[in-house]
Amino acid sequence: TKPVGIIGTGSFVPDNIVTNADLEKIVDTNDQWIRERTGIEERRIAPEGMNASDMATEAARRAMASAGLTAEDIDCIIVATLTGDMSIPSTACLVQANLGATNAAAFDLGAACSGFVYGLITAGSYVSNQLFKHVLVIGVEVMSRVINWQDRGTCVLFGDGAGAAVVSTVPEGYGMLGMDMGASGAGGMSLCIPSSGTAMIQNDKRIEEGLTYIHMDGAEVYKFAVKTMGRTALKALERAGLKLEDLDRFIPHQANKRIIDSAAHRLKMPEEKVFINLPKYGNTSAASIGIALDEAVRSGFIQRDHTVAFAGFGAGLTWAGLVMKW
Ligand code: ACO
Repeated sequence: TKPVGIIGTGSFVPDNIVTNADLEKIVDTNDQWIRERTGIEERRIAPEGMNASDMATEAARRAMASAGLTAEDIDCIIVATLTGDMSIPSTACLVQANLGATNAAAFDLGAACSGFVYGLITAGSYVSNQLFKHVLVIGVEVMSRVINWQDRGTCVLFGDGAGAAVVSTVPEGYGMLGMDMGASGAGGMSLCIPSSGTAMIQNDKRIEEGLTYIHMDGAEVYKFAVKTMGRTALKALERAGLKLEDLDRFIPHQANKRIIDSAAHRLKMPEEKVFINLPKYGNTSAASIGIALDEAVRSGFIQRDHTVAFAGFGAGLTWAGLVMKW
């Protein structure tokens, strides 16, 4: 089988910036607390009327343009999200229609913040076994619509945006070299939206009691993240048959600066090899690694022949790691 990798990237974030100072006006928090505990300075928030499918479509267009492909070339669209427009139709189908990607199969993937890496690995195996030639992987989130803006423990952390990549065959010696995916469902309720599915009957109480919002045990998720993020990257590296010294770049999920630092420490990656855009965007969940990848490629942070590790963790609880030769 031919090697499989990424041949184009794209991203989109809304123009609307909400700073830590803006949040001070709506909840009992302050800029210093948010910066020190998380590293976040501001986040983008989608205006009313801009939905996940809109942001995903724009990121996808940019990724296709950078890959030199048209919508008809796309065989499959995978949208990783926990904040899709609706449960049916899938956001992937809405994007397929927006793009006019009439030859593409389309489905959503639910692995929260690990979703983009889950999506890349899934796409990679389709291309590898020749079911599809070009797979569009999109991570998109409108976290602002599932956040309780009265809960300072969560509302300061998240932001909106979309990142996309086109997965296809690449020349020998390049592309995906090692991967790792996992889950620990037993810890799932530490990060949940209780009434986001069908487990609760529909009544006004769900809204009054805030059950349609994200609930998070921050300390539990923090412990899980610190334990898994470095580990999943190391596993992917091991499966690639590589060593820590071989790593040139690290693209971590952008949730919290302290979590990133601890994973980078474990990978012995100095700060200048770790991509960080968390201060500008906060945690954009499934979009985070996609946006980071696109910015890293466009800014020249990732260059040809670099060995790059990706690592994500998130609700589920889930994790995923991937090592690629760029
Ligand atoms: N502003 C000011 N004070 C705050 C805020 C805030 N926004 N939020 C909490 N505090 C207070 C708390 O009430 C607490 O006060 P107390 O000691 O009087 O009770 C104090 O600050 C310390 O709170 P901790 O929760 O101990 O703070 P910690 O250092 O653990 O940081 C944080 C909290 C940032 C949420 C951290 O636990 C974390 O990052 N966890 C991981 C979260 C994460 O990454 N989630 C996303 C997963 S990805 C996905 O799938 C969506």
